[in-house]
Amino acid sequence: MTSFSDSIQQKTDFSVEEICSLLETTGEGNTASLFSHACRVKNAHARRGVHFRGIIELSNICERDCLYCGIRRSNLDVTRFQMTKQQILDAAAWTHKAGYGSLVIQAGERRDAGFIDFIEEMLREIKKLSGGALGITLSLGEQSKDVYARWFEAGAHRYLLRIETSDPELYRQIHPPGYSFEERVACLGFLRETGYQVGTGVMIGLPGQTVAQLASDILFFKENDIDMIGMGPYIPHHSTPMFQKPLELSVDSRFKLGLNMIAVTRIVLRDVNIAATTALQALKSDGRELGLQAGANIIMPNVTSTEYRTGYQLYDNKPCMDENSEVCRDNLVAGIKNAGETVIYGQWGDSKHFCKRKGIESSHDSATVSQLSGHARRLEQC
Ligand code: 5AD
Repeated sequence: MTSFSDSIQQKTDFSVEEICSLLETTGEGNTASLFSHACRVKNAHARRGVHFRGIIELSNICERDCLYCGIRRSNLDVTRFQMTKQQILDAAAWTHKAGYGSLVIQAGERRDAGFIDFIEEMLREIKKLSGGALGITLSLGEQSKDVYARWFEAGAHRYLLRIETSDPELYRQIHPPGYSFEERVACLGFLRETGYQVGTGVMIGLPGQTVAQLASDILFFKENDIDMIGMGPYIPHHSTPMFQKPLELSVDSRFKLGLNMIAVTRIVLRDVNIAATTALQALKSDGRELGLQAGANIIMPNVTSTEYRTGYQLYDNKPCMDENSEVCRDNLVAGIKNAGETVIYGQWGDSKHFCKRKGIESSHDSATVSQLSGHARRLEQC
């Protein structure tokens, strides 16, 4: 029986064994007490309320060939697309008008000069159209330090780069030969040095993955002083090499482990932002709302043009494929209200962990984006 005494509430150092035993929590009563403890930690230490980041998946063209991913280069069944400048700006304007406060720009990985310039230009345009008000997160894979710096300078201030697993051997098993775990870790360092709020995360329930590896993932987040976490269950995609690999965990077990990972990450890391990801929703229709109740505080509603959504299937059964941005939002807002949570509009909702490591007081929690101006807003938002 997991019990959360006052002492565990104050606890900040957890061993791998302790984390494993929390991750292995099962049964309704024990799980409910794990989640309610995680939410107490969230309310005490993290950004209050739920913050939305509208996500634009602007292209499925990808140089990489990750063995689990539906848009891997070798998947010739995918019709490749790239949203136009105008389509991206329209989606950004919609996000701003909807009061989401922040935008995530994600795409398959490309390192060519044309793409790098295109993103830089987009960043400047998006900053312009929102008068600097929209916060911008990038999720564009491994790049050079110089490219990260150029995009930061152009207005991005958060970056998501999942480590996928913190176990170098498992990392090797899920990627083609030559993909370097060390280079990926180095990218997290470059991002941090550049000044970004740094996000990472893992897939949960990968073939061969152990609970001890997941516990080490949580300690990896802590040791690397990560500000934001985005993680979700692994979901096989029918035209990837990993589809053939037998899975140890059922859909239900992967879903539950996904929620436990959120709760335990919240308990161990406390003040970071944690997203309730779409992969949770792919396994259960109210998966993201349940993610909030397990300790997450961020949701990334899809604002990609509907015509392109089917082209961005990283895994099978991705939800929200034919819904436009309005419908996506309305369903989500109703679900979040049902879950007893409150959406905060018009704020960046920066990770408190980031604000603390930058030595910034959380004195601007109640300031709205429109009250602040200029480049300094990156820090002001804390
Ligand atoms: N199942 C779950 N998540 C996946 N991702 C890619 N493919 C899958 C899959 N089959 C995740 C990876 C990547 C992010 C953009 O999507 O973690 O970093």
